Amino acid sequence: MAQRFGLSMSGAVCAMCICKLLFSRVAIKAVMIHCAMLGLLVSGATVADSESDNVIDAADALAKDVPGRPLTSAEIYALDSHIFADGARLPDGQGSVEAGHDVYQQQCASCHGGRGEGGRALELVGDRALLLTEFPDKGIGVYWPYAPTLFEYIQRAMPPDNPGLLTNDELYSLIGYLLYLNDLLPENSTLNRHTLADIELPNRDGFVDQFTVSPVELEK
Ligand code: HEC
Repeated sequence: MAQRFGLSMSGAVCAMCICKLLFSRVAIKAVMIHCAMLGLLVSGATVADSESDNVIDAADALAKDVPGRPLTSAEIYALDSHIFADGARLPDGQGSVEAGHDVYQQQCASCHGGRGEGGRALELVGDRALLLTEFPDKGIGVYWPYAPTLFEYIQRAMPPDNPGLLTNDELYSLIGYLLYLNDLLPENSTLNRHTLADIELPNRDGFVDQFTVSPVELEK
């Protein structure tokens, strides 16, 4: 169980990386390096950082007694399911705000509060103040630039003690309900791969891609 938790949370971190860094090739490589550092060595994979030419090779890593083991093809296939910010690779299925209410109450409310206001875990609905103050609310309306990446994050990471539990229909329902709670979707809505990809979140332009903006630019 501990191992499963570790794996899924690192997947979650990677999903967040993708969400925040958009989806340039360099960003994807960074995510892969991140996974490798967390011990998710991909069999036969070579991950190169184009700037420094540092190469992490799974066989090398094993020879050097780096923690981790090569993944089987089935494990790689299971991990290789990144959903992109534009909705590419979202799966089939659909769900309604109404059904999402029930899934949310059963699986999420105990930590995130009855209506997403936060509790044992952080809020999913909050102030729309941008992330510029010292302790901003991290509701979905400001903390996420794109809606489709929510799908992968929740699928891989939530609920934390049983990630991967939810079906695609339940995930579409849940995201619909969370967007409804954030005033971003009417109550009678349903979501599928097309309608989820069409949603524009309000803080979409409030993020920088740290891999395409040079550090010099960022300092200005
Ligand atoms: C046992 C408590 C627990 C449960 C149950 C739980 N979460 Fe979480 N959730 C967390 C914690 C802790 C974090 C912060 C994780 C981190 O930062 O790495 C989090 C983070 C999140 C985030 C990212 C933070 C944000 O503001 O957007 C989302 C989205 C989320 N959870 C959705 C859900 C959904 C949907 C469910 C129900 C399927 C759920 N969670 C169930 C504890 C929980």
